[in-house]
Amino acid sequence: MRILSMRSWPSTRASTKKKVIQSYWEEDCSPVKTKKKKAKGKASPEKKEVQADAEPKAKAKGKAKEKKEATEKATDKKAEPSRQHDRKQKIVKELESKIQDLKKKMAKAPSEFDPYLNPDLQQRVNRETLTQYIITSTKGDQQLAMLMNSIQHASKVVSNAIEKAGPAGLYGLAGQENATGDDVKKLDIISNDIWIECLQRSGVCCVLVSEENEEPIVIEGQTGPFCVAFDPLDGSSNIDCNVSVGSIFSIYRRSSPSGAKAEVADILKPGKEMIAAGYTMYGAATELVITYGSGVQRFALDPALGEFLYVADLKMDPKGGKKIYSCNEGNSLQWDKPIVDFVENCKDTGYAARYVGSMVSDVHRTLLYGGIYLYPADKKSTKGKLRVLYEGFPMALITEKAGGVASTGMFKGSIQRVLDVIPEQIHDKCPIIMGAARDVDAVLKLSG
Ligand code: AHG
Ligand code: MN
Ligand code: MN
Repeated sequence: MRILSMRSWPSTRASTKKKVIQSYWEEDCSPVKTKKKKAKGKASPEKKEVQADAEPKAKAKGKAKEKKEATEKATDKKAEPSRQHDRKQKIVKELESKIQDLKKKMAKAPSEFDPYLNPDLQQRVNRETLTQYIITSTKGDQQLAMLMNSIQHASKVVSNAIEKAGPAGLYGLAGQENATGDDVKKLDIISNDIWIECLQRSGVCCVLVSEENEEPIVIEGQTGPFCVAFDPLDGSSNIDCNVSVGSIFSIYRRSSPSGAKAEVADILKPGKEMIAAGYTMYGAATELVITYGSGVQRFALDPALGEFLYVADLKMDPKGGKKIYSCNEGNSLQWDKPIVDFVENCKDTGYAARYVGSMVSDVHRTLLYGGIYLYPADKKSTKGKLRVLYEGFPMALITEKAGGVASTGMFKGSIQRVLDVIPEQIHDKCPIIMGAARDVDAVLKLSG
């Protein structure tokens, strides 16, 4: 606060000073400087008069100013909400424009990777599920739909067992031999139980043949129309080192009258009488490949959904595809001359050798990439190694439906189409030479 000294002011102007001071303290405390300056100057008598006149005027002016300010304040108060609204609008506009800028920055041209980055949209919503395919492709045959559904279910459960095999302690031998004298793995038994259980529960099967069961399983109390032969776990020697394995199946309609107990003869039929066949490959992904009616279809299991989703139709390259030969060359000393000559010729003509040792994987690759897969007869095993009903037949039907060729090569004195072989026993074997016509025909030419 500014302190004014009364003693420094001349006495002649005492009353004026008194009034000014009074005005200073009583009114708005502002005129001190200017009034002090005026007081210091030597005022003329006219000026004194003017000054005396000015005092009431100044007072009036001060009051007018006060009134004006009060009016302005009141007007201000009234205008405040609209100003706040304007400010908000401005902020909203600024934010909107920032959002637009960000959107422009983030928006980019669609790339070839989008389908992979956005699998939910691309693969999970738009893809046909195996369940949908079964419903439409069975054309109202509910029993066939039930059967195909039980096969997809068995495939999912086996796939899950294989995935957790390591930590669950499911690797290794079960300590027994199966119907064809192979060592049985724990997962062979588990997969077999799963397949039998699923097929029985479908309620539409009458006879089952499994690689792991010496005798056919004639299902008590069930008079359904279907007979199924299956290899529940193919390539099980590969299971303990986590290499791809599979399940293979073939389906026949029974010939005996429905309603009666089925017989082994209902399934001991040539492959050309199969109504459907397929395999499930438990590889880097689980894939189910089926054929019934026309064509071959591929479905891959989406583990997040637990659903098989359509991948593509499987068609072999009519020109033969990649030059690949696939066989266990460790047996070559036992091979017949045509097989030896063919494989030598492959080496001379730039073929690559590929052999997983699981039929499912080797055939799957052959169908997709091209070339030839062989497990021929040899001097030691005159029927080869692979089983007719649940390895040879289903893979032969799929190969033919995909546009390839499946032959036994020279077998029992003649070259035969695999699907024409007539099995005498449920675990019968036959030689297999299958794949692109370009390569299978070359073997047969050497054999004839
Ligand atoms: P499985 O595991 O069902 O007994 O089948 C094994 C078969 C087949 O998957 C594979 O192609 C073939 O055996 C491999 O035989 P080699 O080990 O003699 O090559
Ligand atoms: Mn097998
Ligand atoms: Mn097997």
